[in-house]
Amino acid sequence: MQGFLEGLRERLGPAGFLSEQEAMAPYLTDWRKMFTGSALAVLRPTSTEQVAAAVRLCAAHGVGIVPQGGNTGLAGGATPMGQTPQVVLSLNRMTAIGAPDPVGMVIEAQAGAILQNVKEAAAGCGRQLPISIAAEGSATIGGLIATNAGGVNVLRYGMTRDFVLGLEVVLADGRVLNGLKQLRKDNAGFDWKQLFIGSEGAFGIVTAAILRLTPQTRHRSVALLSLRDLAAALNLLSLFQDRLGEAITAFELIADDAMRLVEANCGLTAPVSGGGWYVLIEASSSLDGLVPAVEAALEVAFDKGLIVDGTLAASEHQAKALWALREHVTEAEARAGKSLKHDVSLPIGQLGAFLGDLSQSLKDFAPSSRANIFGHLGDGNLHTNIILGDTPPALCDVITGMVHDLVVARGGSISAEHGLGQYRMPDWQRLTPGSEQDLAAALKGALDPKGLMNPGKGVVELHPQRSGQVQS
Ligand code: FAD
Ligand code: MLT
Ligand code: ZN
Repeated sequence: MQGFLEGLRERLGPAGFLSEQEAMAPYLTDWRKMFTGSALAVLRPTSTEQVAAAVRLCAAHGVGIVPQGGNTGLAGGATPMGQTPQVVLSLNRMTAIGAPDPVGMVIEAQAGAILQNVKEAAAGCGRQLPISIAAEGSATIGGLIATNAGGVNVLRYGMTRDFVLGLEVVLADGRVLNGLKQLRKDNAGFDWKQLFIGSEGAFGIVTAAILRLTPQTRHRSVALLSLRDLAAALNLLSLFQDRLGEAITAFELIADDAMRLVEANCGLTAPVSGGGWYVLIEASSSLDGLVPAVEAALEVAFDKGLIVDGTLAASEHQAKALWALREHVTEAEARAGKSLKHDVSLPIGQLGAFLGDLSQSLKDFAPSSRANIFGHLGDGNLHTNIILGDTPPALCDVITGMVHDLVVARGGSISAEHGLGQYRMPDWQRLTPGSEQDLAAALKGALDPKGLMNPGKGVVELHPQRSGQVQS
């Protein structure tokens, strides 16, 4: 092993190779400090060639590689599990961003580029990259692509996958696939880049991407409303869809308890009295007349009795203040102690019944826990996180299993946008049809026959230990 580590240090230089425990520590635990692992070294390459050289050396010595971007993932995907010899490969020195092309509406970035910086570069030429998450000051392009991140604008613009036009990937044997194309249409052969989007580093390492931009919208209108129940929120969604159509860019739900958590832990105050639930709506357009259209829709909603109280931002400053309430929910939750993340999506018509099931089961299973419910109602994705309180740690897997069972029973997904990481792998194996797991294993076998790319994460291991409960 010493010769192997020396080889890596030689190829990456002293700044690209960390092996002291203290220097490695931040790379060995996740943002929430829920997962901690060990690694032989942390690698910090500066180029695709250095990534490829490191991967070749790891492949020759049978050492696993855990890719890491901004380390903001919420499923432990970027933390080594340490069951076999592994290194962490951080992309945090590959941050170059190309000049945006305002006519072709594309931008190129290296995998370690921070989302916020790429968005600012695009905005500099009147274009936008409308992927929007509260962690955008740290999350990287490579991490977003590897997790196929969602966020608050999916309703209008789609997931990260919808922005990727071209990809450069280092394969498990160290070969480089250069697909940095700017094409919106390309049916010459199959679209291989899709395999790497959302596969959480289990098939290869993303080193650069070409992203599609959209025109910068000139007007936006943001409202925070309080409502009595989920049914009112869904009626409101439907009303806004009828009246504003594609102009709706976000339709976010925040439970009253989640808002109180933000107020208590982040020093912010909601300027609207509570009614059980809050909805934050954003509409945007380049055409004039957006604000009167939103006002008219709100008036109809008030007349129909859908809204208890509400405010419409009168300035960009007020719009940002309303958004801050939503963007601080994750931080407020982290400050409230240990919690279990549940990132679920369901057919929208099933959400009400699912929340009813959840509330009843929590009363039965974990009465001292507290649900923290919020998320992207417009696209059927809710975060039904559970703040544990005095709940015994031994119950964690039981609670998560129970939530996932309820989701699957109603035709939902156990991960809408955060991915499986190490956290959801056991339940994915338990609840996913065998035929799907076999397909994942076949792809893994073809792309990473030695099982060295992000071992234990993202897709099933080569020889899964399936529980007896797998549905066929
Ligand atoms: P990391 O955490 O470093 O890695 C995530 C996964 O991608 C790991 O499996 C890792 O191995 C793999 N990976 C990273 N880089 C590469 C690469 N170059 N090549 C191959 N694999 C790679 N997510 C959402 O989808 N929607 C949200 O609204 C959202 N909000 C969030 C809010 C907060 C406050 C926080 C802390 C997180 C939020 N997240 C959200 C989760 C997280 O920010 C996203 O998953 C993000 O895409 C992760 O990017 P990252 O660079 O931090 O990746
Ligand atoms: C968000 O939407 O803010 C995050 O994806 C959710 C979370 O922190 O669980
Ligand atoms: Zn989310």
